[in-house]
Order: sequence, then C-alpha cells, then structure tokens
Amino acid sequence: MQGPVCLFDSGIGGLTVLKKLTNDFPLENYIYLADLARVPFGDRTKEDINKIVNEIFTWLMKFNPKMVIMACNTSSAVFDFKSLEFKSKINIPVYGMIESCAKEIAKSKYKKVSAWATKLATESNIYKKTIQNINPQIKVEEISCPKLVPMIEDLGFNPADKEEIVKEYLKMTSPESEALILGCTHYPHIANILLKQTKMDIIDPADCLIKELESSLTKVSNPELKRNVSLYTTAQSEKIEKFSRLYLCENYKTSLININKIYVQTS
Ligand code: DGL
Repeated sequence: MQGPVCLFDSGIGGLTVLKKLTNDFPLENYIYLADLARVPFGDRTKEDINKIVNEIFTWLMKFNPKMVIMACNTSSAVFDFKSLEFKSKINIPVYGMIESCAKEIAKSKYKKVSAWATKLATESNIYKKTIQNINPQIKVEEISCPKLVPMIEDLGFNPADKEEIVKEYLKMTSPESEALILGCTHYPHIANILLKQTKMDIIDPADCLIKELESSLTKVSNPELKRNVSLYTTAQSEKIEKFSRLYLCENYKTSLININKIYVQTS
C-alpha cells in the first residue's frame, strides 16, 4: 500500500501527533488537515462532530490513504462509525487517540489517573470507560478544560495568563492522581508549563499510538529519501504555515481548502 498516512484535527493540536509520526516513521508520506474553520470541536455537539468527521473522511479518501489517524481525542471519543456515509468504501485502518493509551494505562501500576480533555470528550467519559473496561481497579477522573484549546490556538496569548489557566485546572485535579493524561492533542503544546507545575507523570496518548503503529509503518530512516508532507486547512493558512515552520521546523506547503458545504454553527 503506497498511499499517504492521513490525519486530521480541529487545528494545531494534531501537529503534536504529526511531529512524532514524522520523527518515528520518516519514510511515510503525510497529509494533515486542520479544520480551523470549525475549531474548537470540543464545544460542539456529538451530531456536529459526526457531520464534520464524515465530511473530513470523504475529503481525505481522495488521497487514497494507507490509513487515517483521528489526531483528535474529541472525534475519537464521540464519532459514530455507523454514521459514516460510505462505510463500505473504507477498507483501510482508522486509528483514534484513546484505545492504545487506555490499554497502556490499564496495565500500569497507577492507582489513580486524571485525564484532561475537551468538554465533549469529558462528557463521553471515554477514558474512564475504556480504561476501567480493561482494569476496573484503576480510578479515573476526567476534567473538562474548555479554556485550553482557545488559549493554545491563540498564538499571541500572554505566557503569564497561560500559567494561571493551567493552575486553575491543576487545582481541580485530584492530588491523589499519579498521572495526567493529555486527553486532547492540543495539550502537549503546554507540556512545558505543566511540567513546571506538577509532579504527576504526563502521558501523551500520541506516544502510545506510535508504539501501536510500529508494526504497520516504516521505521527505517533513509536520508536519501525525502518524505512528502502536505498541510491543509479550512481557514487561516498563514497561521498553520507559520506555526508549522516554528514547531515542525520545516517549510511544508499549506493549502486552504473548503471541504464543507454546510458550516455547522456552535449552539
Ligand atoms: N485537539 C482536539 C482533541 O484532541 C480538538 C480540540 C478542540 O477543537 O476542541 O480533542
């Protein structure tokens, strides 16, 4: 199978997954879609997410991908595969952010963990359900952090205010928790602030996903071969281009696209 690995998120969050993928599997080709016209996904309804993800899948299929990664916990948590309009046409693997992380936590020594996530992902209780389904002994607390995605997406946000917001959510987090799951792909962008403020182990589900993908993607590095990474966004292409240059340290081509005929409004 020669097609690219396709991944998507509402914005710059999934770039944290793309960065790890390109580091670990440098021979693969990648297509990344940021749906910045409809960020944040986490304040939307499950119905909105089903429509949005259906549109995204339909658009991604034209690249003939070898796999699709939902680099978004919110979509991974609530997207209903039964709603996929062209299910019969998808015969490629689809990965989300939750399963591989939940499996690792379930076999860990932790007695209690906290998961920070978006409002919609938290309401689905996906981390608690998936971890306790495997290991009911582990206590799982899920905390909705609706201020974090807008804060991270705002690249000009004042660093001191960022620390205050992070402190606010840390205060809501149980002091008994031994690990904090970054249950939104945006949150690794603030990992350095978190590391200064907490002693909990910080778990990025992307690391668990990468381990799971080791058997399906090419790990060998060959400096002769240059991978091909294309970035697409539904809004603010200059922001994605500028941010990816800083964060991924590469000049990837970023194209502005319009995949959605119906713009779903946040209620
Ligand atoms: N980064 C996504 C996630 O992992 C979406 C966040 C949002 O748009 O609310 O949940």
